[in-house]
Amino acid sequence: MATILITGGTGYIGAHAAAELMAAGWDVVLLDNLRNSTPGVLDRLAALTGKRAPFVQADVRDAAALDQVFAAHRIEAVMHFAGLKSVGQSWQQAALYLDNNVGGTACLVAAMERASVRRLVFSSSATVYGEPDGVPIPESAPLRSTNPYGRSKLLCEDMLRELQGADSRWQVALLRYFTPVGAHPSALLGESPQGVPNNLMPYIAQVAAGLRPELQVFGQDYPTLDGTGVRDYIHVVDLAQGHVAALRYVQQSGKGITVNLGTGQGISVLQMVRAFEAASGRPVALRFVDRRPGDVAACYAATDLAHSALGWRAQLPLSAMCADAWRWQQALAADRAE
Ligand code: NAD
Ligand code: UFG
Repeated sequence: MATILITGGTGYIGAHAAAELMAAGWDVVLLDNLRNSTPGVLDRLAALTGKRAPFVQADVRDAAALDQVFAAHRIEAVMHFAGLKSVGQSWQQAALYLDNNVGGTACLVAAMERASVRRLVFSSSATVYGEPDGVPIPESAPLRSTNPYGRSKLLCEDMLRELQGADSRWQVALLRYFTPVGAHPSALLGESPQGVPNNLMPYIAQVAAGLRPELQVFGQDYPTLDGTGVRDYIHVVDLAQGHVAALRYVQQSGKGITVNLGTGQGISVLQMVRAFEAASGRPVALRFVDRRPGDVAACYAATDLAHSALGWRAQLPLSAMCADAWRWQQALAADRAE
């Protein structure tokens, strides 16, 4: 089988996608500038898959480095995860987000064009729906952005739509992720947030582990079942398998696709806290505080297209998301103790 280039390959979702692609028989090459990940992921991926993936430490904005990768390997398609993803940081560093995420994607597609590799799977986000008019959100819903990070994803989507419209040889899968959580069940791969976690699940895991005193719940007056924000949490292993399904779809159909990857199920913050307490056997203290600016009340996916076109559905329940995140949290603590 030909080789898949994975940008952002040592990151949280990229490493899980690498594991699933390797398990399905693909060869992969990982590229990452290690801004938000460490090379230790390569050892753990090798332990998991029994095979060491070639790694290139480079920035996707480095055209010469990309040309070298395409010259050295027979790349059939690219999965493009490399990007910055913190909504809060994007307000302080909007220019960086545009340069890294939009500039990086432009540089990558230019290198792909030079190498005549025109098959791309792109990490988009449910953030492109902004404050949705209703839930579940279909792919046809209006697109809007509520922060510079979201704007960067929307600009990338626009660029890639333009490219496909102008040249039908391009096959682009725009995958709109809902809220990825959890870790590999082996506890070899997972997310290691730097500093204070921005996202709910890693924060809860740290409270359960006794590393933080309490969870701050952002808002208790949303028009939802219990007043707290509702999201469509998807296990990162399901999400990674969605990428394999999307790659097969573009290969077999010769067409691009824009598709949600979520479970279709809305879970509130309080439901998540209870599920994590059950999975970990630990209490999670919490305190209600003001809403987080820019947050929407409820966001969950319409999943019909993913099922009908890709033949893919998320399989893993909330209990598995929590159990695997807890196992990963304990593995991190054991690593630190060594
Ligand atoms: P991550 O930070 O764990 O992984 C991204 C990787 O990209 C990191 O290893 C980082 O070092 C690398 N990187 C960043 N900029 C780079 C550059 N210019 N050149 C080379 N490498 C670079 O994040 P993740 O959660 O794995 O997210 C992967 C992608 O999915 C991102 O594009 C993100 O915006 C998107 N996404 C993530 C979520 C989420 O909640 N995790 C939701 C929707 C979409
Ligand atoms: N929340 C808290 N306390 C916290 C953290 C989060 O109450 O300490 C709440 C939020 O208000 C929200 C829910 O938990 O209601 C989930 O928040 P996350 O930050 O975990 O996830 P989001 O759905 O807001 O955002 C994530 C990514 C975005 C991405 C989006 C959709 O962080 O980058 O999923 O893919 F755009």
